[in-house]
Amino acid sequence: MAHPVKVLVVIGTRPEAIKMAPVVHELARHAPELSAYLCSTGQHREILGPTLDLLDLRPDRNLDVMVHDQSLAGLTARLFDVLDDVVSEQRPDWILVQGDTTTAMVGSMVGFYRRVHVGHIEAGLRTADLGQPFPEELNRRITDLCAEICFAPTVWARDNLIREGVPVERVHVTGNTIVDAVMEIEARPYDDSAGALAAIPRAPRWVLLTAHRRESFGEPLERICSAVQRLAHAYGSTIHIIVPVHPNPNVGATVSRMLALPNCSVVPALDYRDLVHVLSRATLVLTDSGGIQEEAPTFGVPVLILREKTERPEGVEAGAARIVGTDVERIVSEASAVLNADRVRVPIPNPYGDGTAARQIVSILRRCAGLPSARGADAAERGERPGEAAR
Ligand code: UD1
Repeated sequence: MAHPVKVLVVIGTRPEAIKMAPVVHELARHAPELSAYLCSTGQHREILGPTLDLLDLRPDRNLDVMVHDQSLAGLTARLFDVLDDVVSEQRPDWILVQGDTTTAMVGSMVGFYRRVHVGHIEAGLRTADLGQPFPEELNRRITDLCAEICFAPTVWARDNLIREGVPVERVHVTGNTIVDAVMEIEARPYDDSAGALAAIPRAPRWVLLTAHRRESFGEPLERICSAVQRLAHAYGSTIHIIVPVHPNPNVGATVSRMLALPNCSVVPALDYRDLVHVLSRATLVLTDSGGIQEEAPTFGVPVLILREKTERPEGVEAGAARIVGTDVERIVSEASAVLNADRVRVPIPNPYGDGTAARQIVSILRRCAGLPSARGADAAERGERPGEAAR
């Protein structure tokens, strides 16, 4: 047999680990023809470790690049240095990166410089504004430029790439691997009397708040917290607001100072299982995160997006999310409308995928790497689940 096709999989932050895990596990099912080498850059130190354990990911290499309160330029420079060494030493045939982090951008550029094929998972997301999200909108555009295969999660993302001139044969719509991941985690048994949620009051309604984006630091984050203070006072003991705080030091101080309230729990970043449980039980989500916009439709929980623009309009179009920005009055009135209506949650078909993205991605990768189709691979590419007839 020809030598195995070696695939260097690069991750650095928690969302990359979550979204890449289904792909890493699927690659393992295609050994020895495909041989995966998992490299964690350590862009995140504390919050990545537990996620790797939970998802059963064991990096072959840990690079430990994180520095407290790191600058984007410093992080980028360190990543170029260490990832280039890994690529020159491992000599992969392919590099897979995910999303729009600095790790993904640098991983793709190192692949480009070393003339290694690059596959970009979650390609084609755009707000058309380089400042929102900052710096991710630039990161994702650079990553798409370096990629030989763009795995677009949705038709909208594919069309963005084609409009920018990416040849159609290089773009594949696969769904987002987050849906694979959330389905797998949700199916596991969960005990909410243990772990990080044990101490959270079982109020009638939970509200989840997360905010960590760089463009929200400072006044926007203070406005978000002011709005949440007003909601906390207005709804009293009928709600409990859960606020997992990202370890970025620019977030924690403001949130802890402004949301020390009886019906708010400001807690360290939750592990993924706990977060999925909160989503499955919450009445309302306020967030500037991209991943949570993708996960929430699975549970039918309404999302108010604390940003001016989203690169994920599919949730808004499906009625699962609304863009509210960071204006205090707007957040209070939109959140009140959801809390006053107190509707029964209706899960909708998740517009971001059907849980087969990883199988489709690996199947396409095999074909692009010149390997014969694996059994069932064609069905996987069409997005069918095992045993499902062709539509
Ligand atoms: C990064 C990504 C963002 C993603 C987010 C998910 C970039 C440019 N941004 O943002 O797209 O949504 O991760 O979490 O890649 N820190 C710790 N321990 C950790 C992680 C972070 O202390 O485990 C602190 C450090 O002080 C670090 C700071 O957070 O300097 C910022 O981390 P960084 O990775 O630069 O950016 P994020 O804001 O986390």
